[in-house]
Amino acid sequence: MSCRACSGPVEEFFDFGRHPLSDAFLLPEEIADEFFYRLAVGVCKSCTMVQLTEEVPRDRMFREDYPYQSSMSSGMRDHFTRTAHQLMEERCHGADPFVVEIGCNDGVMLKTVAESGIRHLGVDPSRDVVELAADKGVQVLVDFFQRSTAAQIKEEHGPADVIYAANTICHIPYLDSVFEGVDTLLTPDGVFVFEDPYLGDVVERTSFDQIYDEHFYLFSASSVRATARRFGFELVDVERLPVHGGEVRYTIARAGHHEPTPGVAHMIAEENRRQIVDAAILEQFAMQVKRNCEDLVSLIRRLRESGHSVAAYGATAKSATVTNYCGIGTDLVSHIFDSTSAKQGRVSPGMHIPIRSLEDLSSSRPDYLLLFAWNHAEEIIAREAHFREKGGKWILYVPEVHVV
Ligand code: SAH
Ligand code: TYD
Ligand code: ZN
Repeated sequence: MSCRACSGPVEEFFDFGRHPLSDAFLLPEEIADEFFYRLAVGVCKSCTMVQLTEEVPRDRMFREDYPYQSSMSSGMRDHFTRTAHQLMEERCHGADPFVVEIGCNDGVMLKTVAESGIRHLGVDPSRDVVELAADKGVQVLVDFFQRSTAAQIKEEHGPADVIYAANTICHIPYLDSVFEGVDTLLTPDGVFVFEDPYLGDVVERTSFDQIYDEHFYLFSASSVRATARRFGFELVDVERLPVHGGEVRYTIARAGHHEPTPGVAHMIAEENRRQIVDAAILEQFAMQVKRNCEDLVSLIRRLRESGHSVAAYGATAKSATVTNYCGIGTDLVSHIFDSTSAKQGRVSPGMHIPIRSLEDLSSSRPDYLLLFAWNHAEEIIAREAHFREKGGKWILYVPEVHVV
């Protein structure tokens, strides 16, 4: 196949096989019609972009009842409050600044911008979660961001000083339309800032569950700079973020309008030194993924055989990759507990593990909890302190399988 970003040749390095949609939590009567695709990842030999080799149609993933809500984690709420203040302080100096967010979800970031009285607009196609943003006083447009949406926004509101996106640009295969949209909408000196899971961290920590239908791209500074340049932009800053198991925030500006910080060249030099898209490194990653899966399944099997009960915590999108690739069904994990009401009373994609509320967790008292939301480990383990006080143990599988 050819690269979705630059049309160069793509070499596949891991095939997870037939997978369901990671955020498609099902009612029992929906199981018969479950949708599957082939989950596999490759790397572009020309621009180094790591990407899925099969694309799921966007309307299947981002639909009216898309269930993911950003505000479920207090750590993420804090992160986005800080982000909003930083964007307003650093990028909103003009007379009447305008901030656009792509993939605003439930308004976790724009809420703070709205409260500060700054002109803003959140663009997101998933109606139910966007309504939660509107309830917080956030201005919204229920749509996919692309060339035509950008033109429509500019027509109605004028140019944007900042275009921001978190955990969204990596969901969009059609980067040409995104960059052309940014080109249309952004002021001459404006910035396009986005943050997504970092390839360097995924490879280093074997966090293979970051690979699923919605995460079409796994970015690096090298692949983002190459893409930006093709559309007349430059990567002018990079910042590593500790959220979601390791991300990078990329700041993009029109070529020649902002001087790149030394951090950009530094991160690219580091990526070259580590050879993160080298065939040997990716092969090593693939072997480690297989090993972690085997370790996880054999640990849970041993626990079950010795009479322990095992459930899971966090019906994450990421967990669909783990359960379906490793073959973890209700014979190994009885339930998944999750705070999201839209997921409760349904079953997990593919392996059909029932999702229950956090209130049910205290009554069911499993011996072990497999932490699918490992990226929020500190917050969750603190919040569920009574589970450990009563002898419960957590199972984690990043960077390798361990019990705490
Ligand atoms: N920014 C939030 C939400 C991330 S989830 C956070 O970081 O927590 C990804 C969001 O992107 C979903 O709400 C989804 O509906 C939205 N999305 C997917 N494709 C999009 C597109 N083309 N344009 C705008 N939003 C999109
Ligand atoms: P997350 O890891 O943020 O993302 P993804 O679905 O993209 O992999 O999902 C966290 C899930 O865990 C979400 O469904 C909400 C749930 N959750 C809890 O049940 N309790 C908690 O304390 C937290 C922080 C999250
Ligand atoms: Zn490419």
